[in-house]
Amino acid sequence: MKNHHLLIVGSINMDIVTYVKNHPQIGETIKSQGVSYHPGGKGANQAVSASLSGSKITFIGAIGSDHFQVALINSLEQYGISADHILKMEGSSGLAFIIVNEKGENTITICEGANGKLIPEEVSSVLGKIEEEPKAILLQNEIPIKTNMYLLEYARLHGMKTYYNPAPATKMPREYLSLIDVLMVNESEASHLTGQKVDDAGSAGLASKSLIRAGVNEVIITLGEKGSVYRSADGEKYHIPAYPVQPLDSTAAGDTFIGAFITKQLQGNSAESAIKYASAAAAMACVKYGAQESIPNETEVEAFIANQNRLAE
Ligand code: RIB
Repeated sequence: MKNHHLLIVGSINMDIVTYVKNHPQIGETIKSQGVSYHPGGKGANQAVSASLSGSKITFIGAIGSDHFQVALINSLEQYGISADHILKMEGSSGLAFIIVNEKGENTITICEGANGKLIPEEVSSVLGKIEEEPKAILLQNEIPIKTNMYLLEYARLHGMKTYYNPAPATKMPREYLSLIDVLMVNESEASHLTGQKVDDAGSAGLASKSLIRAGVNEVIITLGEKGSVYRSADGEKYHIPAYPVQPLDSTAAGDTFIGAFITKQLQGNSAESAIKYASAAAAMACVKYGAQESIPNETEVEAFIANQNRLAE
């Protein structure tokens, strides 16, 4: 059911992925097991996940004038996301160079291309064309930081709930933390924001406390196979375990979690139940190759949860 309108302003990348046994060391040359191209980008992936879980999406992003533009738009449209608010920029689309090892772990180097041209002036020209006011906004850090700061203020003025995934981690003015309703980070982003090492549920609990003190309303720290930690300003806190899977490619698992969580929370579910659903969606994304192609829909996630519950009985 498409019942909640979520505005996502973020990146669109073509992921150029190569699979290896082990990542190369500095100075080392290795052979890979081939290359493949997958539509990705944190903004676009999160939009696909939210759409497949049941949100109505308005997505603002940018593509280049290169030959990747067609595949990038087609992929979004295939998952129910309109291209009406996607800007076309002269030059390269966003690219991500991804190396995945045999444990499904990746390293990602991005070349921002058109995403870097999504400045506040460009975004504001499109915001006015959105017909129905969104209920919430979701941002990441693959577009200029000044655009995100502009949008956090815009969202506050328009009464939208703000979700922020500051990935990749970048310096941001501390005063903006109080404009974030729900901050969603992984271990390394939580470490970057707090200056404390975060690598397990205990350290994530402490980091979430300091982020709440800094002005955020709700914090989720994802810890991969160690699950995720949630804390809110009104004292709710949980550690939710991850579903055990044998990962093939964890690319976009975090994005899948984010889009799925937000959809379930906007539909009125508790944070705890939204995290359980999102954890299942993320686990499923780890056992398929690619970014957007690996993201499950609501029916698939519910079947996975039902099956896991049966196995646990
Ligand atoms: O989070 C995964 C995404 O990060 C990839 O799809 C890649 O495009 C990079 O943006």
